[in-house]
Amino acid sequence: MIATATPEAVPGPALGFSGAPREMQINELPLRGRLPEWLSGRLLRTAPAAYENGAWRAEHWFDGLCFLYGFRFAGGRVAFRSRFLESEEYRAARAGEARFAGAFRLPQRSVMERLREPLPPTTDNTNISVASIGGRVTALGESMVQNDIDPETLHCLGPHRYADNLPEKLALIAHPVADPARRSLVSLGIQYGGRTVLIYELADGENRRVPLASWRTMHLPYVHSFAATARHAVIVDHPFRAFLPQMGVNLALGLGAFFDCFEWQQKTPTRLVVFERDGGRSWTVETDPLFLFHVVNAWDAADGGILIDLMAIEEKPDLAELRFDRLRQAGPSQWPVLRRLYLREGRPVRSESERAVRFDFPATDPRRSTQRHRFVWGTGIDPAVPRLFASTLYKVDTETAHVRRFARPALYFNEPIIVPRPAGTREDDGVLLTVVLDAAAGRSALLVLDAASLQEIALAELPVHLPFGFHGRFFAA
Ligand SMILES: [Fe+2]
Repeated sequence: MIATATPEAVPGPALGFSGAPREMQINELPLRGRLPEWLSGRLLRTAPAAYENGAWRAEHWFDGLCFLYGFRFAGGRVAFRSRFLESEEYRAARAGEARFAGAFRLPQRSVMERLREPLPPTTDNTNISVASIGGRVTALGESMVQNDIDPETLHCLGPHRYADNLPEKLALIAHPVADPARRSLVSLGIQYGGRTVLIYELADGENRRVPLASWRTMHLPYVHSFAATARHAVIVDHPFRAFLPQMGVNLALGLGAFFDCFEWQQKTPTRLVVFERDGGRSWTVETDPLFLFHVVNAWDAADGGILIDLMAIEEKPDLAELRFDRLRQAGPSQWPVLRRLYLREGRPVRSESERAVRFDFPATDPRRSTQRHRFVWGTGIDPAVPRLFASTLYKVDTETAHVRRFARPALYFNEPIIVPRPAGTREDDGVLLTVVLDAAAGRSALLVLDAASLQEIALAELPVHLPFGFHGRFFAA
């Protein structure tokens, strides 16, 4: 048992941040309980594995080698498959080479390579999420490469090629926002050389990105996600920022990795840069300094304002807490709170936080994306044992502030994913899928809960443990 014992002798989640996982295929997983007949489709997820080989090693969770896995649901049964994403970085890792710049990793390059290409090649290890893009299933990271995958075999089909003229050197974020009403995705690309963030829209099934607006800045915040409503897109320009010319110099001279170029500017307010999706006109409002990875969702209020729910860290972010060695010792101390912002042009920002619970990896009913939602699900900590990583699942009712919890000793939860019942209309009528680590058994499982009550419906057990991952998606059949 690798898992760290806590004072209460409950095995900790260290196993989820340890070792290279095994690739496997299982045609039918043993099931406790009964899956709903209507649950038909595929849950695909990425997870950064703490792989190391020769010169290649992942020291930080963000640099883990992408491990893909999927659960296929049909006729009340569930099948499983897993495979490393066969990227260029994967091939280098298998050869024990470290040529690519990672989030926290400097590449190892010869003088000749530096002369030939001053900026190091960025990773194609797209380990953050998956999405449906241009009719393909695509693994997403935060570099200039997104990888298409075969959803059945999980083989990598190579970099995704868009059919448009946007710049090739565009770093694409891993959190596009679906707009179900317009049947499109809205997303961002960052052109570091041009110091520009480009907001674009991509119609479902199409492969041509249409630029909506652009934002030019010398002091780029770390943009992991953004907010989109039916009529607006909002970039949260928080004070964890890089000065772009200095970043270029640092990366070229090997003075620091990508995240080493950011600094927290404690006295700088967070700016919310609002763009109209039609026309691109923009305005800005300010609130207190905060850091975030995840916007939950946003919508346009009837009075012309914008409401944004986001997961706010209200202090200097400490990304070193997410190093594998630290994660194996104790979970991060920084967990965000759910905060709701109300923005209106020319007015002070109104802000309210739900401080009773701390969680991240927020989920909402996917049908409500860009529209008003009521419920937010997430995975976080139990305040009684705050260093036990992701030991509690939460469902927050933002109208009543009522909180439901699901927790079991030595069970640790990956991001919840909400799958609405196809005939249902209520926001929480459906199931919640979460991959759990049972640290006492040393194995992972897929847990299916009723999204409304958080009662257990079914559990599909794996014979192995899976690494903790960031995000995934359910693709209905
Ligand atoms: Fe994320």
